[in-house]
Amino acid sequence: MTTPRPETLAKLTPVLTKRWLSPDAWRIGTYEKLDGYAALRKALKAHPDDLIQLVKDSGLRGRGGAGFPTGLKWGFIPQGDGKPHYLVVNADEGEPGTCKDLPLMTHDPHSLVEGAIIASYAIRANRAYIYIRGEAVHAARRLRNAVNEAYAKGYLGRNILGTGFDLELVVHSGAGAYICGEETALLDSLEGFRGQPRLRPPFPATHGLYASPTVVNNVGTIASVPHIVLGGADWWKSMGTEKSAGSMIYSLSGRIANPGQYECGLGITLRELIELAGGMQPGHNLKFWTPGGSSTPLLTAEHLDVPLDFEGVAAAGSILGTTATQIFSDQDCPVYATYRWLEFYHHESCGKCTPCREGNYWMVRVYRRILAGQGTHEDLDTLLDTCDNILGRSFCGLGDGATSSVTSSLKYFKQDYLDYIEGRTAPRLSDKQLVGA
Ligand code: NAI
Ligand code: SF4
Repeated sequence: MTTPRPETLAKLTPVLTKRWLSPDAWRIGTYEKLDGYAALRKALKAHPDDLIQLVKDSGLRGRGGAGFPTGLKWGFIPQGDGKPHYLVVNADEGEPGTCKDLPLMTHDPHSLVEGAIIASYAIRANRAYIYIRGEAVHAARRLRNAVNEAYAKGYLGRNILGTGFDLELVVHSGAGAYICGEETALLDSLEGFRGQPRLRPPFPATHGLYASPTVVNNVGTIASVPHIVLGGADWWKSMGTEKSAGSMIYSLSGRIANPGQYECGLGITLRELIELAGGMQPGHNLKFWTPGGSSTPLLTAEHLDVPLDFEGVAAAGSILGTTATQIFSDQDCPVYATYRWLEFYHHESCGKCTPCREGNYWMVRVYRRILAGQGTHEDLDTLLDTCDNILGRSFCGLGDGATSSVTSSLKYFKQDYLDYIEGRTAPRLSDKQLVGA
């Protein structure tokens, strides 16, 4: 393990993670001692429109993967329309490799509750939901406890802190479907239907939960809001880059010495993140990595100095996504890794549209053939052709995301495929594993 240099250590910006080392920051008493709910008191004295402007000025962009400007999204909510407005926090973190929201909700659940109250006040919502992944039982327990504590202290419910603002906040657990992290499938699921994506537009901002104006924001987005309210837009913009402002939690996993969450200004590089994580594991050299989960095209050792912000990663041919960097070495096989991800997409495809439902099914079969040593050169063309028919033709982002590792691994590591096809690499799957996709 290597020790990070002081100049690299100085790149850590603990903002969302700053309370994680306090063992009981999840209890309201400790949270309040650590500045908790100070932002809410400040926000409730401001006009809601001024809060929306503050978030616009801060440059905060969505932390769920797409990076849509948060203040702009809040500003889309029509005012004076006579309809109920809703805030829905997307806590259905499910992108493979992504692990930033669950630790936040476990260690610091009140920051999310506080952010949700401020955001609801800004968009004039009197009901908010946190839709959390069904498997995240412990985090859901912590969140429910935080919500109960906030009610008991008068931060939730009727006439919050004597301001006349009312808010009911409900924590809702999903049932473990990845697709319910797609915002419109999430809304369907919350309404009690089977979770399947809806056609967009119209976007949830005008036709969301129960067909009413709804802001759907990721956990990290909403938990950033109290910090922005207290610190101001300029302070937030002092971290990150011009177009990708602020502090971001990067989750590092794979062949590194110390996997975990590292919070830095947007624009840090993978080289620096690996240094912060104590270097690669002994005997391992970086071969490929995902910048933001398995739905983002793979990058390689050539991309160690790419700034990990929305623009920098896009310029390198990938997507920042959820900043889940999964790090693979020369002892890992990109063909096998891609196959495992494809199995995931095949399993999680909701089945609503043909390109994703059928395409992933067939691609899994082709990968099995290649990994069993029975692939052909034509199989590589079949894979690319299938991706062409999924990308941009699927109903939602799941289908597009499934193609990312296929096309990028073929772009950078075609030789690894050829080694299976031409018999230089021993088969990884047996004949028995060829069937049953
Ligand atoms: P998107 O770019 O279509 O939309 C982003 C947000 O902006 C949505 O809330 C949408 O409603 C809003 N929006 C966009 N255009 C709008 C308009 N004209 N008017 C009003 N609102 C508008 O992205 P999408 O499909 O919602 O998310 C894709 C991202 O999700 C991917 O980048 C991927 O990295 C990420 N993802 C995250 C996962 C996780 O576990 N956090 C899981 C899987 C994918
Ligand atoms: Fe369902 Fe896949 Fe189509 Fe999305 S792309 S609607 S997950 S079948």
